Amino acid sequence: MTTLLTEKAIQQRVDEMARDINAAYAGEPVLAVCVLKGAFLFHADLVRRLVGEVAVDFIQVSSYGTEQRSSGIVQLKKDADTSFEDRNVLLVEDIVDTGQTLKHLRELFATRRPKSLRVAALLSKPSARVVEVDVDFLGFEIPNEFVVGYGLDSAEQYRNLGHIAVLGG
Ligand code: IMP
Repeated sequence: MTTLLTEKAIQQRVDEMARDINAAYAGEPVLAVCVLKGAFLFHADLVRRLVGEVAVDFIQVSSYGTEQRSSGIVQLKKDADTSFEDRNVLLVEDIVDTGQTLKHLRELFATRRPKSLRVAALLSKPSARVVEVDVDFLGFEIPNEFVVGYGLDSAEQYRNLGHIAVLGG
């Protein structure tokens, strides 16, 4: 494994993203929705840096199985517990790869009539994109390689790492 992003670099970037997010909401209440499982550490670190009224919720989707390649079929395995109606929803994602998961979630969540819907994603692989999708707050653009750590897995391994590494690199 080769380290791509150190723990220090990730934490510094999460700091900067939180500053941008706080500025964008300007004290309005936020519902920060974590996309399980990959975003669990990013979400936990991010919400601790948000100011004002912050509620959290969790959804789980699967598009991968144990393959390192998107199936293109996005399945909602766990839905949020709370209503999105008339709330500022911040979707917190680990990584945007083909873009299919995020596109699906944006469309689904827009039907729930939130006051606003924004997306914070830690990582993006622009060269892997199959569908275009907007990310409001992005941590890092990375090359089209399979990465693990800081929530991201390969067959459920490596989620606990504080840094992000290229598998097999
Ligand atoms: P997309 O629908 O292709 O954009 O895939 C998004 C999901 O695929 C992410 O939320 C991750 O769970 C998973 N994924 C994509 N690339 C990687 C990677 O490099 N490592 C681990 N998981 C990944």
